[in-house]
Amino acid sequence: MSQSSLHVVILAAGKGTRMYSKLPKVLHQIGGEPMVQRVIDTARSLNPESISVVIGHGKEAVLAQVKRDVNWVEQNEQLGTGHAVKIALPHLPEEGRTLVLYGDVPLTDTATLEALLEAAGDEVGLLTDVLDDPTGYGRIIRDNGKVVAIVEEKDADAAQKAIQETNTGILVLPNAKLAGWLNSLQSNNAQGEYYLTDLIALANRDGIAVHPVQVAASYLAAGVNNKVQLAELERIFQKQQAQALLKAGVTLRDPDRFDLRGRLKHGQDVVIDVNVVLEGEVELGDDVEIGANCIIRNATIASGSKIAPFSHLEGCEVGEDARIGPFARLRANTKLGNGVHIGNFVETKNTTMGNGSKANHLTYLGDSEVGSQTNIGAGTITANYDGVNKHRTKIGDDVRIGSNVVLVAPVSLGNKVTVGAGSSITKSCEDNTLVLARARQTVIEDWIRPEKNQK
Ligand code: UD1
Ligand code: CA
Repeated sequence: MSQSSLHVVILAAGKGTRMYSKLPKVLHQIGGEPMVQRVIDTARSLNPESISVVIGHGKEAVLAQVKRDVNWVEQNEQLGTGHAVKIALPHLPEEGRTLVLYGDVPLTDTATLEALLEAAGDEVGLLTDVLDDPTGYGRIIRDNGKVVAIVEEKDADAAQKAIQETNTGILVLPNAKLAGWLNSLQSNNAQGEYYLTDLIALANRDGIAVHPVQVAASYLAAGVNNKVQLAELERIFQKQQAQALLKAGVTLRDPDRFDLRGRLKHGQDVVIDVNVVLEGEVELGDDVEIGANCIIRNATIASGSKIAPFSHLEGCEVGEDARIGPFARLRANTKLGNGVHIGNFVETKNTTMGNGSKANHLTYLGDSEVGSQTNIGAGTITANYDGVNKHRTKIGDDVRIGSNVVLVAPVSLGNKVTVGAGSSITKSCEDNTLVLARARQTVIEDWIRPEKNQK
């Protein structure tokens, strides 16, 4: 394989009219990441000297959302793929070679690109596909087996349109020739554009061989022009991830009903039921079970814990052997110790709970610190917001809070405090106290109910 230095140019200036979206096309996501970000990361895996990304439509949004260290090249008018590469020339030295990728072709893998670079050597490499229906694609023109030109659909005659071998758009070019070729491009074609594909004929003219490499599967070079294609590539991507997890020992009750939009680190004997969505960075320890229909984003769940169906976890840490849900909601900055139980319709936010503590029903714990072995009764609410500021609630170890208690923050309960059901707690309580803060029950005996007037 050639040792010459590699540069990458990613074309991403197009609008994506057929997406019918405010978002520039390359920001639409596959597996929870903008397509162009995936392409940049794949390019990065080849260790190139430089990566230049040509942006145009929605460039402000692209610059804001794609956090990658690359050369941004602005193409204010989309005059064609040849023009797009030409304006990246200031970033391309005269030695080495340039690989052209597309911001809307998200699933190309490193192995495919390495094979292309290997085949190209210091000449031209062209990634091709053979399609049952080649409509819309540039056709590969061969002469005695040699690739001599690419003809675009709109410029092709009937015989050329019958060719099923197509241009994927991905190619590698020798930098020494690049500027000369790009500067000699003409736009006298059906679309009035500067076609990058015309470089194939120019290479032939200059006696530089074109090495075609056919993709192993069409999805590897498939572009996204509409939501149908986006959904198709998303399914392929999700299937690949699911297969990889199954092979690594994760049980997926149904790999077709599992979505990972980020990264999953997992231990042994993890079981994931149907319709689970994992987003961001998720870590599941040994023997963790995730019930059906859970959504888990940026969370760490330690070994032995079980998350029952329909739970929603975000930005939280769950200790070992915890029982969460069904219908639990753990929000940002929730940290639960080992053996914690969180039951149905319990919401936590910015809250820590010590080992063995429980909140089993209908509770809100916000801006709270709960000790260990404490039991929070059904319907307990931390009133953490006075309408202007948030305040903290501190609850000690081994506390028993009865049902339907309001803890008006800032407030603090010591260890072993017992709170009677229905109390509104506004003052802090010392260790080992019993606190009742509710109206006393009044009983009127032999009460005669009012009766309806007779007419
Ligand atoms: C191109 C190829 C065609 C190939 C097809 C594969 C050319 C002339 N034709 O056609 O042979 O079969 O891709 O999908 O190259 N772009 C820019 N700036 C521009 C023009 C395009 O950044 O001025 C970007 C677009 O955003 C898009 C990509 O380049 O991501 C391809 O451009 P597009 O106009 O879609 O080319 P096709 O007509 O599909
Ligand atoms: Ca296209």
